[in-house]
Amino acid sequence: MEILNLYNITLIDGDGIGPEITQAVIDIIDVAGVKINWDKQLAGARAYKIYQDTIPNETITSIEKNKVCLKAPITTPIGTGFKSVNVALRRHFDLYANVRPSKNLPAIQTPFQDVDLVIIRENTEDIYAGIENKIDEETIHGVKLITKKGCKRICEFAFEYAIKNNRKEVGVVTKANISKLADGMFLNTFREISKNYPNISTREILVDNLCMQLVQNPSQFDVLVMPNLYGDIVSDLCAGLIGGLGVAQSANIGKDCAIFEAVHGSAPDIAGQGIANPTGLLRSACMMLNYIGEIEAAKNIEKALFEVLKEGKTLTKDLKGNSTTEEFTKEIIKKLSIQ
Ligand code: NAI
Repeated sequence: MEILNLYNITLIDGDGIGPEITQAVIDIIDVAGVKINWDKQLAGARAYKIYQDTIPNETITSIEKNKVCLKAPITTPIGTGFKSVNVALRRHFDLYANVRPSKNLPAIQTPFQDVDLVIIRENTEDIYAGIENKIDEETIHGVKLITKKGCKRICEFAFEYAIKNNRKEVGVVTKANISKLADGMFLNTFREISKNYPNISTREILVDNLCMQLVQNPSQFDVLVMPNLYGDIVSDLCAGLIGGLGVAQSANIGKDCAIFEAVHGSAPDIAGQGIANPTGLLRSACMMLNYIGEIEAAKNIEKALFEVLKEGKTLTKDLKGNSTTEEFTKEIIKKLSIQ
C-alpha cells in the first residue's frame, strides 16, 4: 500500500479576494492527492479587527513550526495606516529571495509568445527596511538600506537558481550610474560572485533600459537579479507580459522557511463577486509543492490548468471569459480527475 506524506502547512487566506481564491486552490490540491493539514491563521485587516494586531503571535508561531506557508493577498492601507504585513513577514522570517517566474501560458494572447524569464528580487532591504524620518513638515528623509551580506546572498541565490533550473544567463539590474554607493555595491558584489559560476553567462543592465527592452524584446532575458524596489516594479511589468496579475506566481524563500503567494493584491474592486482568477495563487502553490518535493502533483495541476486555459471555454473575466472562480476551479478539477 502506498504511504502518503502528511504535510503541516500554514495557510493565510488573506483579505479581499483572498478567501475565494484560497478555497479554489485547497480544493485542487486535495484532488491532486497531496495530503495537507492546513494550519489556518490570520494576518492583515481581518486579524487586526479581532486581535488589534495585523500579525498575531499564533500566526508567527505556526509559520515558525511548519516552515512552509501559503498566503493569499493582504490589504495594506496606502500612504497611511499599518505597515505592510507582507514586508513584515518577509523580514521576520528573513525570506531574502523573492522568485517570480514569467513564462507565457497556453492560449493567453499577449504581444509576445516566447517570454521565459525569472526575476530574483532581494526581499528584505532597500526602502522596504522602512526607515523614513520627517525632518520638518515639508521634508522627508527616506533611507535605501543595502548591505554587503544582503547583496552577496541574493546574488549567490540567483546563480544557484540558474544552475538548478538549467538556465544559461544571470543579469544584474541596478541604477549604479546614479546610486553609486548602494547600487554600486550590489553590482560589484554580483561581479565578485559571478566568478564562482564560470558556466553561467552574465549581463549588466540599468533598470530604466531594462524596462524599455522588456516591452520591446522580453525573450532576450533569462534570470535577472535586482534590489527590492526595482524587483517589485519590474516583476509587475513582467506579469503584464504573460497575461496580467491574475496569473503571476511567486515564492519568498529564506534559509529554512518559505512563504508562497500570488503576485497580485487583494483586488478590493472585485472582492466577494466570485469572479477572481485563482491561477496566480494556484501556480504559487505549485511552486510550494515542488519545494516540499511533491513534484508529480505540481506537474499534474499545471497540466490540468494549461488544458483549461488552452480550451478557452471556461475562463475568468480578467482572461476575457465570463466564468466564475468556482466554474474555473471545477473545470481544472475535472481535468485532474481524468488524468
Ligand atoms: P491588485 O493586484 O489587488 O489589483 C490590481 C488590478 O488587478 C485590479 O483591477 C484587480 O481587480 C485585478 N486583479 C488582481 N488580482 C486578480 C485576480 N486574481 N483575478 C482577477 N483580477 C485580479 O492591486 P491594488 O489594487 O494595487 O492593491 C489592492 C490591495 O492589495 C492593496 O491594499 C495592496 O497593498 C495589496 N497588495 C497586497 C499584496 C500581497 O498581499 N502580496 C501584493 C500587492 C498588493
